[in-house]
Amino acid sequence: MILITGGAGYIGSHTCVELLNAGYEIVVVDNFSNSNPEVINRIKNVTGKDFVFVEADLLDQEKIEGIFHIYQIDAVIHFAGFKAVGESVEIPLTYYHNNITSTLLLCSIMDKFNVKKMVFSSSATVYGDTDLVPIQENSPLSATNPYGNTKLMVEQILKDLSTADDSWSIALLRYFNPIGAHISGLLGENPNGIPNNLLPYISKVASGELEYLNVFGNDYPTKDGTGMRDYIHVVDLSLGHVKALNKILYSKGIEAYNLGTGNGYTVIEVINAYEEASGKKVDYKITPRRPGDIAISYADPKKAKRELGWAAIRSLDDMCRDSWNFVQVNPNGIKKTNIDKKLVVSSVKK
Ligand code: UFG
Repeated sequence: MILITGGAGYIGSHTCVELLNAGYEIVVVDNFSNSNPEVINRIKNVTGKDFVFVEADLLDQEKIEGIFHIYQIDAVIHFAGFKAVGESVEIPLTYYHNNITSTLLLCSIMDKFNVKKMVFSSSATVYGDTDLVPIQENSPLSATNPYGNTKLMVEQILKDLSTADDSWSIALLRYFNPIGAHISGLLGENPNGIPNNLLPYISKVASGELEYLNVFGNDYPTKDGTGMRDYIHVVDLSLGHVKALNKILYSKGIEAYNLGTGNGYTVIEVINAYEEASGKKVDYKITPRRPGDIAISYADPKKAKRELGWAAIRSLDDMCRDSWNFVQVNPNGIKKTNIDKKLVVSSVKK
């Protein structure tokens, strides 16, 4: 069985769907700190498959150990963590504790139960402010905020672990900018409050919930002056996890992989694609640059193609269409409900 931490989150939930579709048995753990139980029901509805769900915080060592006692875990896909850059600057200790301590505890439990295979949810943020694009995995690493530091530090911890004990097998997946939603419209990005990221913000402007988008700067060295990113459909990204899992189950060592499309789009290009997909106007105002933003970031995804046999195939239009469909299916986001007990196979008792 595969243990998925943070499986009710945006990328986690889509990955659960693809793992179930690929025939894997999964155990999902989440504390719903940035998600809600209805997501679990929806994963089940989308796939028509059962799985084990455990509501737990990764800092609850006893409860997590309980999972390893009960289920035969073969590998872990570790998504759980806080991810808001701005918030991480305001409450760094909370970020370090939540993202790093939880990973340390998880790794020690894995070690204890001799489960030494992990796919880790990293980020292109570990490349810091590089101006060498497309970005390759061997580019210099750095971070500019506590969130980025947590990703970088966990990568380092996992490298040290692999050096100390070469029976570990680890894939560090460095995501570029995941957007889009499941084609059913049942799963998608569901941030609390006013979104920080571009796509959730654009979708709220298109739906009329917010008046206009602030475009953070139009004086970057790009074709229209707005920031350029490598947007990747969340389903393509999820399929990358399935491929990475297939590899680590049968190999040893640690490798980092860029999960991106290799194409960069500017903010204005994304606005245009979203207007086209939704048939709605997305009003915007140019405002000063957002502190900490970089000008251009896009991946060289060749290593993932070569070693994992994975490549993103969905276009920016697909991403915008699926995002808009999600907004229409869920005009108020994914509403909180209780877990449908019929759908949950079991839970862990102390
Ligand atoms: N942008 C706007 N207006 C907004 C929001 C974003 O113009 O309201 C612009 C940004 O300036 C940037 C682009 O849209 O040019 C994308 O911004 P996002 O906030 O969506 O994404 P970032 O690239 O800044 O950050 C993302 C993840 C981080 C991760 C980083 C690097 O959110 O977690 O990629 O991988 F660290």
